[in-house]
Amino acid sequence: MFVLDTYKRLPVTFVRGEGIYLYDDKGKRYVDLISGIGVNLLGYGDKGITEIIKRQSEKLLHISNLFENPWQERLAERLVRHFGDEGKVFFCNSGTEANEAGIKFLRKYWHKRGEKRYRIITFNQGFHGRTYGSLSATAQEKFHKGFEPLLDGFDYAEFNNFESVKKLLKKETGGIMLEIIQGEGGINEAEREFLFKIQELCNSEGLLLFIDEVQTGVGRTGKFFAYKHFDLKPDIVTLAKGLGGGVPIGATIVSKRVAEAVERGDHGSTFGGNPLACEVALYVVSRTEELMENVERTGEYFKRRLSELGRVKGRGLMLGLELGERCYEVLIKLLERGIVANCTGNGVLRFLPPYIISVDIVDFVIENMKKII
Ligand SMILES: Cc1ncc(COP(=O)(O)O)c(C=O)c1O
Repeated sequence: MFVLDTYKRLPVTFVRGEGIYLYDDKGKRYVDLISGIGVNLLGYGDKGITEIIKRQSEKLLHISNLFENPWQERLAERLVRHFGDEGKVFFCNSGTEANEAGIKFLRKYWHKRGEKRYRIITFNQGFHGRTYGSLSATAQEKFHKGFEPLLDGFDYAEFNNFESVKKLLKKETGGIMLEIIQGEGGINEAEREFLFKIQELCNSEGLLLFIDEVQTGVGRTGKFFAYKHFDLKPDIVTLAKGLGGGVPIGATIVSKRVAEAVERGDHGSTFGGNPLACEVALYVVSRTEELMENVERTGEYFKRRLSELGRVKGRGLMLGLELGERCYEVLIKLLERGIVANCTGNGVLRFLPPYIISVDIVDFVIENMKKII
């Protein structure tokens, strides 16, 4: 009644969770295959997370970025271990904020070089967030309608169509921004050949490769970053969603050359990287490293079993089943049977389960889906 009506919500009220299960206000149990849209990587009630929240909240919850912050330093070091290239990290609170920071750092890189290369090529069906920079980078009209004029400086190419990228190249182009698997756009995977050519183009033109790993990152596809499945060398990588396992935190990781262009006062955040969020994220990252093998193995099994039902897309534990117009109807029937998923893109039933999912749960889900589809 008092909350602004911006969401189409499913008719269920969850009141608690345990492991991979959610429980509603009537005590009914559900298998959760969406994890709060790819956030709750360790499921619900993970003892490590609750212990850290208890301990850190008693010690120090928030201090702002006016002071030294060793918690950020530890987490940044851990993320850079995966990124390499003497990277550096800026912390914020969400995916859209991480992308805003990335867009600013990209522009600053070129500004520092005295070049007006502020334009970024992004891709149709991509999704980067709802604030103006990220929204302008998001090449989907349905999110723009009513909010024009958008921020200048974005050119939209066709995903997996390298010629369309080349056609958009201008002397002002400074970078290319993409998702390795478009999550909100319908679990669309970038093709190896396409990514190879994008990297080649970035190398030859000096463009910055900006990979949005907000949904694919922190192990979701079986590697810490989805771009690690390919031979890519991004200058900017963004994370959020799963990074805090349910505690809001975002991160923008930049290469050495981009880091060198960013100066004190260029960007900031009151909450970004507070001690609580960083402590939890450090734990989530280390648990994720242990669970990545399960993501890959169970993900492959899940994908194989889903393909008994129709066309499947995605990798690791980021999977989609193409259902078209029936998607919402199937979603509701699954909910009645105690299974939570979500519809994305053009009628794609999306699964982003927690990394603790087992083969038995997959079998339970498939048996139920077979009865519906
Ligand atoms: C790839 C990608 N980038 C950015 C975002 C925006 O993240 P947030 O909702 O945390 O702002 C999302 C959210 O779905 C996403 O999937």
